[in-house]
Amino acid sequence: MLKHLTAQDPDLARMLRDETRRQQDTLELIASENIVSEAVLEALGSPLTNKYSEGYPGRRYYGGNAHIDEIESLAIARAKELFGAEHANVQPHAGSQANMAAYLALAAPGETILAMDLAMGGHLTHGSPVNFSGKLFTFVHYGVRQDTHRIDMDEVRSRAREAKPKIIVAGFTAYPRTLDFKAFREIADEVGAYLLVDMAHFAGLVAGKAFPDPIPYADVVTTTTHKTLRGPRGAMILCRADFAKKIDSAVFPGMQGGPLEHVIAAKAVAFGEALRPEFAAYQAQVVKNAQALAEALQAHGVKVVTGGTDNHMVLADLTELGITGKPAVEALDAAGITTNMNMIPYDPRKPMDPSGLRLGSPALTARGFGEDEMRNVATMVAQTLKQPYDEAIREDVRRVVAKLCEAHPIYPDWKT
Ligand SMILES: Cc1ncc(COP(=O)(O)O)c(C=O)c1O
Repeated sequence: MLKHLTAQDPDLARMLRDETRRQQDTLELIASENIVSEAVLEALGSPLTNKYSEGYPGRRYYGGNAHIDEIESLAIARAKELFGAEHANVQPHAGSQANMAAYLALAAPGETILAMDLAMGGHLTHGSPVNFSGKLFTFVHYGVRQDTHRIDMDEVRSRAREAKPKIIVAGFTAYPRTLDFKAFREIADEVGAYLLVDMAHFAGLVAGKAFPDPIPYADVVTTTTHKTLRGPRGAMILCRADFAKKIDSAVFPGMQGGPLEHVIAAKAVAFGEALRPEFAAYQAQVVKNAQALAEALQAHGVKVVTGGTDNHMVLADLTELGITGKPAVEALDAAGITTNMNMIPYDPRKPMDPSGLRLGSPALTARGFGEDEMRNVATMVAQTLKQPYDEAIREDVRRVVAKLCEAHPIYPDWKT
């Protein structure tokens, strides 16, 4: 592997190998990460990166796009088939760009958008003041109930009635439950808003029928392709046929230039994989593994927001353990377990050292982990959180992590 890179640029080749080895040798519990197939990697590392193809299949500004058209059309066809969507735009470079294009297609700058509060589980692009979304649009937010930590559709309705938004966004970055798309649709209809579902986190679960399907209810659906969907880093937008033209022109020429056709080819590969029956089995296991993790953590005395999970993620509340998010991530990192700190609902602490830890099952499930192994992982997480600076515990955890990782290679053909 890396024959040319090693000869030409050994320093960079070493760094790349080091990162690949880190991925192989650690337990990835970041809920927004996954491990793509070697076929996806091959498409990403292909000469398609050389090509300019501004425009869409059959309507390009540059010559030489016959094969690129075939590839992008295949990605579009597979995306539509996978989600039963009328239209797909596979060009957004990332989830943030997909959201920007969707907002610009459906609303004018300054207009009002209702979305989930970042501090309660929403995303930066759902109206954070430091993000383009909060700077360009007027955002109002709904959160979760203080007693249940679940979204309260009555609150969403009353916020919508007050604010009369142009768009209502349903979707999250840190929320361990499902969403009631029918209720969101009814509220959008009542106040005359568009319904935009940002399924970045749970798109793979939707494709695998392990999460409610937003497509029948949403006007527009945005998603990343690299989280539960297990494709390359990137995004896409799905919509009803009557929004197709608006969405396409918001992406190009509205917001992006040349599409990344090597990434689009890799998206096509990943969608092809997601269309196979094994993918539904994988997603069902993702949810079972997250549930096993949540149950075992609680059995070890680690509090979990909402008392469990219906999806691929678990939000641990560290308050009673006497540790905060930042040192928790550092201690787990040192033990070979990768996580991210996260705000919990009504968190009195700040984002740079919040009270929570977000954990997810997609990457470990992709490595073939089952529920028993997840319970084992939960034990190690709990031990580390309770005694983060105990060297003996850290050594023990590292040893078990190494064994588990060796038994579940991410890329058996890669010789690092
Ligand atoms: C709900 C949601 N939307 C959008 C995004 C943005 O995706 P990206 O990081 O690819 O810009 C994320 C990423 O975390 C997300 O969780």
